[in-house]
Amino acid sequence: MNFIPVNTPKLHELEKKYVNECIKTNWFSSEGKFVKLFEKNFSSFNKRKFGVAVSNGTAALEIAVKSLNLKENSEVLIPSFSIISTANAVIKNNLKPVLIDCDLDTWNINIEDTIKKITKKTKAIVITHIYGLPVDLDKILKIAKIRNIKIIEDAAEVIGLKYKNKICGSFGDLSIFSFYANKHITTGEGGMICTNDKKLYNKCKSLRNLSFSNSVFNRYNHDDIGWNYRMTNLQAALGCAQLKKINWIIRRKREIGNRYYKKLKHCKNLILQKNTTSYARNIYWVFGIVLKNKLVSRRDKIMKILSKNNIGTRTFFYPMNKQKIFKKMKIFKKINMPVSEYISRNGFYLPSGLGLKNQEIDRVIKTILKVVS
Ligand SMILES: Cc1ncc(COP(=O)(O)O)c(C=O)c1O
Repeated sequence: MNFIPVNTPKLHELEKKYVNECIKTNWFSSEGKFVKLFEKNFSSFNKRKFGVAVSNGTAALEIAVKSLNLKENSEVLIPSFSIISTANAVIKNNLKPVLIDCDLDTWNINIEDTIKKITKKTKAIVITHIYGLPVDLDKILKIAKIRNIKIIEDAAEVIGLKYKNKICGSFGDLSIFSFYANKHITTGEGGMICTNDKKLYNKCKSLRNLSFSNSVFNRYNHDDIGWNYRMTNLQAALGCAQLKKINWIIRRKREIGNRYYKKLKHCKNLILQKNTTSYARNIYWVFGIVLKNKLVSRRDKIMKILSKNNIGTRTFFYPMNKQKIFKKMKIFKKINMPVSEYISRNGFYLPSGLGLKNQEIDRVIKTILKVVS
């Protein structure tokens, strides 16, 4: 019985061809035509005017937050259930992260909790679309506009997904993406910031590259504390090739997710993320399950059984209010996030990569049903 990894990325001949071109032409660092081409094509795919390619999604978040130039200690609303990169970006920029709990059936930020947490000090909200389903955006965007709150849209996990027929990543003042090996489009490691705002675009571009001065003769006299978060031409070459296949990628991701969903939705001991809502169809970045009833708190045991059956799985994100490091720093003291804490303790995801075969999905389903029924 072969091992089924939690992620199996898939590259093809075109990726090889473009990467070979970088090697042959000697353009393999961050200089080279593919970086600009990838920025142009990817931002246009997301219906944005500008794109800034960076070394990963975490870097994209750090740059995006800094580019807003918010006053120290301004409040930034972030999801409690997401990757730690979001909280890190806010804290590193000397801003105050305020957590929002999530919903049990979407795993996305709870809209009412978001609105409740808005104060006079709220200057930005990071809206993160989780695991393949978008946040129901309308209400939050409307309030943010009225109150002049900036939106950073984290579309790392939903490249190609639509919210009410409009592409995710086209809603924020800035939107960020990740191209890690398990994302819909991969460059190995990589990320992008997209925006329609020329000023923000120029700031992000500058911060990505150590904020070198624009003047040729004054190059090493820097304008700001930036980073070297550049993407290489080799990575961008992969991205350009991958983007050409985005329709196939989305179709296949949905096929995988729907195959799991159909067979597991009747299982009374599992909570699944919504497959379809009035505003979107799940794109299934990963297929997650949350245990309930008699299976509560038996997650680790079940993951071990699956591993013994040669099936790879991964735990859900860990809630921000429970992070070791933030406890040490006394951030999020006495804050409870009941839904995030519950799904984090009882949730894990199943093999979901593009290289997955239908027989393998069926084997995972059969094993899960045996274990959880
Ligand atoms: C929602 C979200 N945002 C940001 C990131 C960070 O991306 P990266 O791993 O490229 O730094 C991730 C990573 O998985 C993510 O899931």
